[in-house]
Amino acid sequence: MGRVFFIIGRFPSLSRAEIWTKFSQNPSWISSDTIALDIDSELGVKNLHQMGGTIKVGQLIDTVNQDELRQAVMEPKFFEHFGRSGGRYIIGISAYGQKELLPPPRQLAGMGLNIKKELRKKGRAVRLVTSRINPLSSVIVSKNKLIERGAEIVLIYESKNRIHIGFTLAVQNFEAYGHRDYGRPKRDMRSQGMIPPKLAQIMLNVANVTKDSVVMDPFCGGGTILQEALLLGCRQVIGSDSNPQAIEDTKNNLRWLRAYHELASARIELSTHDARKPFPQLAPDSIDAVVTEPYLGPLRPPKDEAQLGNLRDELTQLYSQSLKNLRTYLKPAARVVLILPSWHSGREIIQPDIQKIASLSGFSLSNFPDWVGHNPFLYHREGQNVARLVAVLIRA
Ligand SMILES: C[S@@+](CC[C@H](N)C(=O)[O-])C[C@H]1O[C@@H](n2cnc3c(N)ncnc32)[C@H](O)[C@@H]1O
Repeated sequence: MGRVFFIIGRFPSLSRAEIWTKFSQNPSWISSDTIALDIDSELGVKNLHQMGGTIKVGQLIDTVNQDELRQAVMEPKFFEHFGRSGGRYIIGISAYGQKELLPPPRQLAGMGLNIKKELRKKGRAVRLVTSRINPLSSVIVSKNKLIERGAEIVLIYESKNRIHIGFTLAVQNFEAYGHRDYGRPKRDMRSQGMIPPKLAQIMLNVANVTKDSVVMDPFCGGGTILQEALLLGCRQVIGSDSNPQAIEDTKNNLRWLRAYHELASARIELSTHDARKPFPQLAPDSIDAVVTEPYLGPLRPPKDEAQLGNLRDELTQLYSQSLKNLRTYLKPAARVVLILPSWHSGREIIQPDIQKIASLSGFSLSNFPDWVGHNPFLYHREGQNVARLVAVLIRA
């Protein structure tokens, strides 16, 4: 058991919800971009490739104040944590935590040079990896082999008097996510909209799916959520969509996935189906989780407030009718993780009322500890017309 840090992604509440659901543990401390948990570091590393919301995982070794920092990174015991592949060490430094306390990249490079000098005195050559932007990206860390051949030293500024020092143990596999997103044969942005695989993975984790789970996406589009559920090892995935072309695309995409991954034992069931209508092929109380991004309205939503209001009402109906229908097939206390749209009319934010949808369909909003943030969780990328809200519901 040790203290492990998680550097989280651009949507902190979602990442925190994912970590909370996975480890069911309150953190020892958190900052805007970091969470510290007392767990086995191997457990942290093992889970990283399945956690879309975490960028880096590492081991914490010390907590110091500003005055002690310089000396702490010169101690012989500090160097014991460097990778041991022989030859030259390759090192870099990243700082996280309270933005106003972070040293500029120049100062971090200065600290790196001091470490380099100290190690040279001990007869060990060092290559220092620097960047004009702090922190070092996962791409820089992995391309320069910092973890294997030296260290990414991580300083986390919780406050002036509490700076946590650690070493990165693993970074998110950016190439694997990119391949899963852009390598697929069927990517139809116009008719379906595309959910990034990382977000799909976070949603599945927040739904608490495990290898034993039966997971359903009743608005499956090109099948991103089903794909990620299969990669998490879920034993059965059920996908449906009212558009037969979407089902064809999902079939093609999952066939492509099989070429890269061993999915032999998983059961996949796909059908063209309106999510509001009963599913005669499904048994009552048989599904562990519904994870879905339903129809979110047109890709270019109207600007007019009255029209947006109509769209909100129309989608509220679609979502509540579908959830009410799906409720029958869900196990008691099963989770539904559902994306809702949120629009900005220029004057105000307009979005479906999740409380109303939940109560109309027999669900309640899941509770999260205060440090996680507010359910539903916002996911919005610059330049997108529609923001996404990720809502976590429980079958009441
Ligand atoms: C936002 S897309 C899903 C995208 C999917 N998550 C992906 O990444 O490929 C919404 C899907 O809902 C489907 N849809 C719309 N109304 C539906 C209904 N009443 N029942 C089932 N599917 C519906 C559309 O055909 C579309 O494929």
